[in-house]
Amino acid sequence: MMAVYLDHNATTPIDERVFEAMLPYLKGSCYGNPSSQHRQGRESQQALQVAREQVAMLVGVQPRQVIFTSGGTEANNLALKGIMAQVDAGSALVVAATEHSSVLEPANALRQAGYPLALAGVDDDGVVRFAEFERLLAASKTALASVMLANNETGVVQDVVSLSEMARRWGVMMHTDAVQALGKMDVDFDALGVSAMSLSAHKICGPKGVGALVVEKGLMLQPMMHGGGHEAGLRAGTENLAGIVGFGAAAALMQSGLETRTDHCEQLRDRSEQALQCIDGVVVFSQQVKRLPNTLFFAVDGIEGSTLLMNLDRDGIAVSSGSACASGSGEPSHVLQAMGVDERLAHGAVRVSFGSGNTVDDVDRLISSLQKQIENLLKLNSGWL
Ligand SMILES: Cc1ncc(COP(=O)(O)O)c(C=O)c1O
Repeated sequence: MMAVYLDHNATTPIDERVFEAMLPYLKGSCYGNPSSQHRQGRESQQALQVAREQVAMLVGVQPRQVIFTSGGTEANNLALKGIMAQVDAGSALVVAATEHSSVLEPANALRQAGYPLALAGVDDDGVVRFAEFERLLAASKTALASVMLANNETGVVQDVVSLSEMARRWGVMMHTDAVQALGKMDVDFDALGVSAMSLSAHKICGPKGVGALVVEKGLMLQPMMHGGGHEAGLRAGTENLAGIVGFGAAAALMQSGLETRTDHCEQLRDRSEQALQCIDGVVVFSQQVKRLPNTLFFAVDGIEGSTLLMNLDRDGIAVSSGSACASGSGEPSHVLQAMGVDERLAHGAVRVSFGSGNTVDDVDRLISSLQKQIENLLKLNSGWL
C-alpha cells in the first residue's frame, strides 16, 4: 500500500516542474559560475536574477531586497547576528518563547556574547502576549525583536502586523521567520512592516538547502560569511545555482492558487480534527486561534507521541511528534511548555501537516490507523498500571 505523507511542515516533496527547472543547472550545459564574465557565466547570472525576481514577487519586494542563503536556519542566523552586530554594544534582543530553534539558538549565542536576551511569553493558545511584548520593547536597550509569522508545530499565526507596528513605535527593529507561512498564507513583506524576514525553499515544494533573508531597503546588516562580494556583500560564496533556480521556480508556482491550496488542506485538516475529537482523551492545541490551514497539533492523554508516531509509521503513515529538529530529544516540545501545557500531555503531542497532494483517502487511513493504535496503546498502558 502507498505510504501516506502527512509531515509537510517538516518538508515538502519537490514539485516536478521545479525539478525540471533545476535539471539544466545540475547535469546540463548551465554550469557557468554566475560571477564569471564569459557567456556561460552571464547565463548563470541571468538565471540567478530570474530566481531573485520570482522570490521577490511572491513576497512583494524588489529583487535587490532578497539575499539568498543556504536555508531558513542561515537566514534566521544572518538576521539576528547580522543586525545585532550593527547596534550599540550591550543592546538587547527579544524573541518569542515559541520560536524555532534556528532563532532561539542564535539568540542564545548572542546572549552569551553579551547581548541581553528576553523571551516574550505566549498565552495558552500560543499567541504572543501583547502587553508583555510591549513591556520588553519599552526596555531602553532593546534593539531587535523576532516573532515568527506561523509556528511550525501548532501552526499559530501571530499578528506580526500589530507587533511590528508596536516595535516601530519603540524604535525597535523587527524580524519575522516566515518559513512556515510562505505558500500557506499571503506573505507581503511591506504589509507585515518588518525590517527582515526569513524564507526557505523546501517548505514550498522547492529543494532543501536554499532560502533567503528579505530585508528592507537600507537595512544595516553585517555578513556572517566573508569572502567574495556575492549577494551584495552580505553572503559570500559561489551561489547554489540549481537550488536557487529551484527556489525561484517553486516561488513562481506559489504565486497562484493559494486559495485552492489552503481550502483543500483546511478541509482535510477539519475532517481529521472532527474524527479525532470523537476519540476519548484527545486534546487539539490552538484550535481557537488563527492557525495555518494545513496544521493539526494534538495529544492523547496517557500516550507517548513518539510511540504513536512509530506505530503510525508501521501503518505507512508519516507524521511528526512536534518539531522535526527537536524530535528524538525526549524533551516535550518547548512550544507546548511555553503554552503551559501539562508535561504529561505534552509528551503525547503529534503533529499532522497536510499538503496539496493529500486526499480524503489519506485522512481516512490516518483516522482508522489512529483509532486502532490509540486503542491498542491505551489497553497496553492500562495493563501495566
Ligand atoms: C519555522 C521554521 N524556521 C526555520 C526553519 C529552518 O529552515 P531550514 O530547514 O531551511 O534551515 C524551519 C524548518 O523546519 C522552520 O520550521
